[in-house]
Amino acid sequence: MNNKDGISSWKIPLYKIYTDDEDLNLITKIVRRGNNWAMGPEIQEFENAIKNYVGTDYCVTLNSGTSALHAAFLAYGIGQGHEIIVPSFSFISTANSVLFVGAKPNFADIEEHTYGLDPKSILTKINPLTKAIVPMDYGGMSCNIFEIQEITKSNNLLLIEDAAESLGSSVKGRKVGAIADLAIFSFCGNKVLTTGEGGAIVTNSKEIHERIKLIRSHGRVDKTEYFNNPSESQYIELGYNWRMSSITAALGISQLNKLDKIIRMRQENANYISSRISKYSQIKVPTPPSGYEHIYQMYTIQLSDKKTRDDLQKYLLKKRIFSKIYFNPIHLTEFYMEKIGTSKISLPVTERISQQVLTLPLYPNMNSEEKEFVVESISEFFESEFLNN
Ligand SMILES: Cc1ncc(COP(=O)(O)O)c(C=O)c1O
Repeated sequence: MNNKDGISSWKIPLYKIYTDDEDLNLITKIVRRGNNWAMGPEIQEFENAIKNYVGTDYCVTLNSGTSALHAAFLAYGIGQGHEIIVPSFSFISTANSVLFVGAKPNFADIEEHTYGLDPKSILTKINPLTKAIVPMDYGGMSCNIFEIQEITKSNNLLLIEDAAESLGSSVKGRKVGAIADLAIFSFCGNKVLTTGEGGAIVTNSKEIHERIKLIRSHGRVDKTEYFNNPSESQYIELGYNWRMSSITAALGISQLNKLDKIIRMRQENANYISSRISKYSQIKVPTPPSGYEHIYQMYTIQLSDKKTRDDLQKYLLKKRIFSKIYFNPIHLTEFYMEKIGTSKISLPVTERISQQVLTLPLYPNMNSEEKEFVVESISEFFESEFLNN
């Protein structure tokens, strides 16, 4: 429901981006300079800011989180004959990226309290072909990363974290993305830090960092900036063009400058909504376990059963409040069932949770009336409509 200018006509959209004059000023500066809209100094500046924020040695920006996952698998030489343990309760590109490189996604189940991969389920999936585990940090909160790391260490596997949704959150005092061998972030439109589209990889490995830079840009050794270097370039392997533009990176710098403020605003709104709707026994509000910081990239509630969830969603839609199901299991999508043969896999927690979750609207500058409208609509549903049906 967008008008021709791309403006949402929902009464309450699922998300709205927090933006200010700094965003405009930084972009305008690059547009006005009339040069270096690609490969400008903003790229390196944004990468430095991300690695400092997360606490890793290296960062490479890319044009999406999906390219970041793809590049990560290529950089580690993952391909045919390898199996990668992934969640089915995730966005489809977590699994698709494994297929891009010819490897096989091996779906494991999730734990109920983090919605991240369950270490117990992971252990049942490891076999001689397993090369890496790819846990996902759901909706702005870490998975059980320390326990998963123990498993990767003791089984000599790579830990590649899909932190697409969770830049800025932390677990036991460490920022999400700082613990794995490599982590990826997405800056797609609905993320807490967004540049419209974009992605990044963080790692402490110099070697992997160098390989990803080659994969990102045509396999070219860019010792100096390509468009300002008259001498011949060296192309030493097959590479892609997965670079981020200078304008996008500038927006990233400016959004990162205010990321902590944006997170605080999200947390305040989430806490308020939780405080108002947690009284309904049919609703489980998001509750971070001790030591986990939730930044609420998504505000996802869990309903008692599928019918209640679907009825509530219909009720909210009637009121023009946008809500969405994140996620339906990947192994039960048409593509995976028909082409990859995943229909017989049993992941009981994933299958049950995906029938109960509903992501509600949440954004930094959600005003009191908007919050009230959402909360009151949910109350009406449970206090009248639901009971009368
Ligand atoms: C868990 C997860 N992985 C990967 C991606 C892919 O990121 P992008 O949309 O930037 O390609 C997303 C984002 O949409 C995501 O939520």
